[in-house]
Amino acid sequence: MDEKKTLYSAIQPTNNLTIGNYVGAITNWLKLQEEYDCYFAIANMHAITVRQDPAELRRKTLDLLALYIACGIDPAKCCLYVQSHVPAHAELCWVLNTFTYVGEMERMTQFKDKSARHAENVNMGLMDYPVLMAADILLYQAQYVPVGEDQRQHLEIARDIAQRFNNAYSPTFTVPEGLFLKVGAKINDLQDPQKKMSKSCENPNGSIFLSDDKDTVIRKFKRAVTDSGSEIKYDPENKPGVSNLLTIYSVFAGKSISEAEADFSGKGYGDFKLAVGETVADRLAPLRAEQARLIADKEYLDSVLKAGAERAAHTAGRTLSKVYKKIGFYQI
Ligand code: TYM
Repeated sequence: MDEKKTLYSAIQPTNNLTIGNYVGAITNWLKLQEEYDCYFAIANMHAITVRQDPAELRRKTLDLLALYIACGIDPAKCCLYVQSHVPAHAELCWVLNTFTYVGEMERMTQFKDKSARHAENVNMGLMDYPVLMAADILLYQAQYVPVGEDQRQHLEIARDIAQRFNNAYSPTFTVPEGLFLKVGAKINDLQDPQKKMSKSCENPNGSIFLSDDKDTVIRKFKRAVTDSGSEIKYDPENKPGVSNLLTIYSVFAGKSISEAEADFSGKGYGDFKLAVGETVADRLAPLRAEQARLIADKEYLDSVLKAGAERAAHTAGRTLSKVYKKIGFYQI
């Protein structure tokens, strides 16, 4: 029997997750877990590159695990774990740092954005973020990495680092490939549809958080920016607001973009926005309820994390020990 290919992805347990994270990452993982050997991490080491409140970070770690499971990610099929539970991530990151150039890191778009947003705390971790991400992926010899469009540049650098190391020694790392959704790889801000919807954006009306209740979701969609004209047509260049709403609707209603357009042909923007809001709110409500039920069962969540950490540490340890041998670390 063919061995399953390995797939790796992670989300930071910061702020509230948005429907961008849900669509761009989690819905994609759901289908993939059937076909691949999946590792899905909670990237708390990435999270501290921006200052976090310790109690909140702890709480959000379990919240995110509960959300993974509530969305249908099955701990019996996938390895779910917390990044800091597996020390090999920090260890491989250190080695990979010596294969990464400062200039490359300074050119990363997300580093430039975040340094501008957190000018008071442009720490080394913020700059090193893509190398830690490369370590995450390479430790598991992942062939595929499903992420949203905003992570494309980080994935490219992970590939470069893997190839650089393989060329310097001998094939050690699988060179990973990104898996990007055709629809939904970039959900945009409802108030500024040229910009990605983000957990940390300034205007909370622009983002739909998974924790928003029905009234809030509908209110935010009613206020969403649309475009001139009145036609409900998918045309991201000329109608970014309407196209973003059609994308969201198509994913949440499980329809193609042309089916989504057909549902609203001849309708006005008001009806359209209300329908998108209701569709999204109706999908989120049961997820939130299931997440709350799981959060109350800390013993179960801890048992998932313990099993996940053991399995992840086993795989990661094998890669790390190969790397240490190749670079000449004396082993006892
Ligand atoms: P994070 O936590 O910022 O985002 C998690 C996932 O959500 C996707 N995403 C979006 N997709 C569509 N539309 C949006 N508006 C949107 N916003 C976010 C992101 O692309 C991502 O897939 N560095 C990563 C976490 C990470 C990781 C890894 C990912 C750490 N190590 C190894 C893959 C492999 C991050 O910050 O994601």
